[in-house]
Amino acid sequence: MNLQDLIELKGKALAAAQAATDAAALETVRIEYLGRKGLLPKVMEELRNVAPEERPEFGKTANELKNELAELIKAKQSELAGSGTTAAGFDLSQPGQWQSLGTRHPITQITDRITRIFQTLGFTVADGPDIETVWNNFDALNTPADHPSRDEQDTFYLENGDLMRCHTSPVQVRYMMEHKPPVRIISPGRCYRRDTPDATHSANFHQVEGLYVDENVSLADLKGTLSYFARELMGPDVKIRFRPHFFPFTEPSVEVDFTCHVCHGKGCRVCKNSGWIEILGAGMVDPNVFNAVGYEDAKLTGFAFGMGIERITMILYGIHDIRNLYENDVRFLSQF
Ligand code: PHE
Repeated sequence: MNLQDLIELKGKALAAAQAATDAAALETVRIEYLGRKGLLPKVMEELRNVAPEERPEFGKTANELKNELAELIKAKQSELAGSGTTAAGFDLSQPGQWQSLGTRHPITQITDRITRIFQTLGFTVADGPDIETVWNNFDALNTPADHPSRDEQDTFYLENGDLMRCHTSPVQVRYMMEHKPPVRIISPGRCYRRDTPDATHSANFHQVEGLYVDENVSLADLKGTLSYFARELMGPDVKIRFRPHFFPFTEPSVEVDFTCHVCHGKGCRVCKNSGWIEILGAGMVDPNVFNAVGYEDAKLTGFAFGMGIERITMILYGIHDIRNLYENDVRFLSQF
């Protein structure tokens, strides 16, 4: 081998390393030239047979070959590792194929949150059908025959005389008819009213009903329960207040306000400067309801409450139009 051969060999070695497209090919080049039984150790052995005048230049070139090739291989190694290309030509650094996962609907999320809060207080979940009898939805709940909510303009009636329940309160009736006291239930579900859809109304919405019946249940128990609920839902600083109200099935009845979650009671646009936001209806179960379901023990008292899930969801998430909750636009839903 002479100097010319060596120069050619150097060119070939560097070209081979340069051409390697994956780590395995590069390693093959490294072993072929720099390995213990590779070409370069052989070249070094050749040194003694080289003509003495060529020897210095030959030695220098051989050293260059060794160093340049080693450097190139090192550089290529880190380049290939960076791109992550495997022997099979897969580039592991490329982003994978992404499958978007669905999210639970905000109504479902808030329903679950409310349910969990009452479960920690020992309430269990009771269920009832969307199609109800007039008796369960109105009569047993002490709703007089001429009450406006019975009007065909407010409630959807079916041809057979049944109706689409306009609140979750008939679940109370069903549950008490089937279970002896004490009773401690909540029942989330769909409700239906003849409302024209707009930013705050929907003909189909959701409520959570609550009912607690035992001996010696008082309005103070209702207040304690709802205070706990408010703090768990909104945070430790929230206050609640009861305003006198009327529902046919509770006496006394109250509407319950929470301090505004935006201004914390100072007054702002969201609470129309009052500092309070109306959240739910509640009261002590009217004795006529107990009579209707056959609860005869005079010592029994109870409280009931009902709240709109859409309303609470809109308040918690700052949603301004209820219709957003029903349109199933993924751009909207994926934010929750
Ligand atoms: N059913 C009432 C409504 O739909 C809410 C409510 C439930 C009020 C239970 C008092 C007790 O507005």
